[in-house]
Amino acid sequence: MLSRELQKGIHWVGALDWDRRTFDELIPLPDGTSYNAYLVKGGEKTALIDSVDPAFADVLLDRLAALGVTRLDYVISNHAEQDHSGAIPAVLARYPEAMVVATPRGQGLLMDLLAIPAERCLPAEDGAALELGGRTLRFIHFPWVHWPETMLTWLEQDQVLFSCDLFGAHLAVGDMVAPDDCVALEAAKRYYAEIMMPYRNVIRGNLPRVTVLPVDTICPSHGPVLHRPHAILDAYRGWVSDEPKDRAVIAYASMHASTRVMAQHLAEALIARGVGVDLFNLANADLGKIAIALVDAATIVLGSPTVLGGAHPLVANAAYVANLLKPRARFGAIVGSYGWGGKMVNQLTGLMPNLKLELFEPVIVKGLPKPADLETLDRLAEAIAAKHAGLGSA
Ligand code: FEO
Repeated sequence: MLSRELQKGIHWVGALDWDRRTFDELIPLPDGTSYNAYLVKGGEKTALIDSVDPAFADVLLDRLAALGVTRLDYVISNHAEQDHSGAIPAVLARYPEAMVVATPRGQGLLMDLLAIPAERCLPAEDGAALELGGRTLRFIHFPWVHWPETMLTWLEQDQVLFSCDLFGAHLAVGDMVAPDDCVALEAAKRYYAEIMMPYRNVIRGNLPRVTVLPVDTICPSHGPVLHRPHAILDAYRGWVSDEPKDRAVIAYASMHASTRVMAQHLAEALIARGVGVDLFNLANADLGKIAIALVDAATIVLGSPTVLGGAHPLVANAAYVANLLKPRARFGAIVGSYGWGGKMVNQLTGLMPNLKLELFEPVIVKGLPKPADLETLDRLAEAIAAKHAGLGSA
């Protein structure tokens, strides 16, 4: 198996998972993914930055063998999650002299998750350097990208940042080069929305630690290597800011068209007032696209019929997932329908305690919406547009 030489002495030795279609049995992967591992050769020492998912351990070992690597001094573990650490035991077995370098918290997780022995571990203190001979690795503790133990590794002389899950994308490309910036940023935004957005405030606080570095190349743990890092750095600055855009997400389910009519009417009413709208029928929506829309939305609208006395399970799930992702939306509304009563509104608002949304008056109608109900939705659109005044468009 051939590696990809990024520059002299620095190789991508990871694995492409072209066929994987979900992560964590939750996140859709329309474009597969990659588990990126990198080999860095110094004048005296050789380091492997992360490993791969355990199912691809042989791929990693084959790439190292093809490069003629007979001795490995260090395995730098930026992140203990198994899609990056899972092949470390196989690497340690093949290279018995190699030591694992991780944050103190990372060491504990590697011992717990993979039974890596303490005597094979070295601590990576924040800001500490590891000399390879003419090349210096410097460790930057950066918790919550995406677990509490994560760190980034900075290769000083080459100005290469091995950025862990941060700046990553679930995107399998054979040459490890993004087809173009738009494709790369869309995939990165999906990844940010699904993985990083819940930790937005921590990332915003730590981001200056890497934006001050003279970064020439970003090597993330998933997706293509980024040779024009300003694009992803600028995008992250915007995504982690506190200011949402003049956009609304409307996510709904509908059994007999009443809620669908309401959701679509509200969408048109918002668009007519200049508010950007992302409308999702939850019966067939891509969770990743909803997450992307939540990055920018200032308002979240849930639309639900009443089923068995409560919210439709698809809408309840959407509320639960939105609550986990903690988007920066400021306003919320619930619209929907019922036949003879129920507790749908209280159920849905109770599922989103993390979001601190300012809620508009719910619009709940009996059966199909009547003209007066549609006028109520027009007034809701007016109120949303007024609250969005001053927000920028995406
Ligand atoms: Fe790609 Fe958090 O592991």
